[in-house]
Amino acid sequence: MTIPKILGMSGSLRDASFNTMLLKAAITSYGEADAQIAELNLPLFDGDLEAKGIPEAVTKLASQIAEADAVIIANPEYNKGISGVLKNALDWVSRVPGNAFRGKPTLVIGAAAGRTGGETSYYMTRNCLAPLGAAVLATPAVLIAGAHGEFNEDGTLKSERYQENLDGVVATLRDIATRR
Ligand SMILES: Cc1cc2nc3c(=O)[nH]c(=O)nc-3n(C[C@H](O)[C@H](O)[C@H](O)COP(=O)(O)O)c2cc1C
Repeated sequence: MTIPKILGMSGSLRDASFNTMLLKAAITSYGEADAQIAELNLPLFDGDLEAKGIPEAVTKLASQIAEADAVIIANPEYNKGISGVLKNALDWVSRVPGNAFRGKPTLVIGAAAGRTGGETSYYMTRNCLAPLGAAVLATPAVLIAGAHGEFNEDGTLKSERYQENLDGVVATLRDIATRR
């Protein structure tokens, strides 16, 4: 059996990001996999920069997405919207010939400080993935609310219920990715 390739994308660049913790928890939940976390610290999209040639970091990201069996995106909420880091990455990837996201099984999850766990950002992220043709999973939303109190020091989730919810949606992703 070939080992599935999973690509994680975190919409937060900070070292202690709860979204990166959640992403790692999701990757662990996936089980045996060749998992990578994408570098999203990319230059800001700029048509003039694009005209000089798509940056290598962007073509690498597009290749990682294209080669992955499944993509997991963990995204915070910034002022009721998608993080600029993630939007910038999606905009760049959309400019790389070959349409890396087309039909790609993609799970969106998130962690945020607020009471909804970033629900507005979650739906906005799903909308932003639509033009790219990603096969975004229609699962119950796993959104970690009040994220500051929900992770142990080792990055694992404190709440069994959140962990069970995460395991459930990751299992759905695994089933769909395996069936392709
Ligand atoms: C510019 C900015 C805007 C934010 N807006 C929201 C928001 O609209 N809703 C929310 O729940 N949290 C908001 N937060 C708090 C984030 O959810 C919190 O900082 C979270 O930990 C960020 O994710 P990270 O831990 O992965 O970096 C905001 C934080 C920043 C820096």
